[in-house]
Amino acid sequence: MFNEISPAMLERMRFLEKMDAADRADGTERMKRLRQIPPETGKFLALLAVSCPMGDIVEIGTSAGYSTMWLYLAAREKGVRIRTFELLEEKIKLAKETFVKAGIRERVDLIEGDALENLSVIKEAAFCFMDCEKEIYEQCWELVSEKVIKSGFIVADNVISHGDELQKMIDRVMKDERFDSMIVPIGKGELVCRRK
Ligand SMILES: C[S@@+](CC[C@H](N)C(=O)[O-])C[C@H]1O[C@@H](n2cnc3c(N)ncnc32)[C@H](O)[C@@H]1O
Repeated sequence: MFNEISPAMLERMRFLEKMDAADRADGTERMKRLRQIPPETGKFLALLAVSCPMGDIVEIGTSAGYSTMWLYLAAREKGVRIRTFELLEEKIKLAKETFVKAGIRERVDLIEGDALENLSVIKEAAFCFMDCEKEIYEQCWELVSEKVIKSGFIVADNVISHGDELQKMIDRVMKDERFDSMIVPIGKGELVCRRK
């Protein structure tokens, strides 16, 4: 999977990594930054997603499509689609550019607008990556957890970096008997939940 990253996708990954690093360094305001996952989290997500049962992949919080490219590696190998949700116009524009430049458009549906209003389009998911504003994680969990099929996964980002802010959501998920869940200390901290 990882040695099949196309030169075009690799080029776009490097471009977005540089853009994200520059924005962090020069103090670009938070909502304008890409706020991407680091590459090791991307690899981890791709490994989990490819190991899931057959079914579509969902992503909440596309930004410029960096994590979508990692998820694409799993989607291509399994022959499934990715549905990714993004709210902000500027990010939508960048994500569209990413999907064309990286050559992954045919397998990705970008759903524009507020994920909370649009998640009802998901009828079933084998894998969901949650990486939007932390204030809506719990609502996203409510909307998406029931759609995840047996042995499917939900992975939520930033549960260590934003542990205090997310503690209520983490406690709620840990008590959810439909899932086996644990925090994996990779990248910004991933809450990994597998549907029983
Ligand atoms: C941390 S960034 C996502 C980074 C991306 N997953 C990556 O690693 O490349 C969070 C994104 O979620 C988007 N977002 C925030 N609230 C949203 C909502 N209610 N619906 C859809 N997207 C939302 C933001 O605009 C932002 O682009």
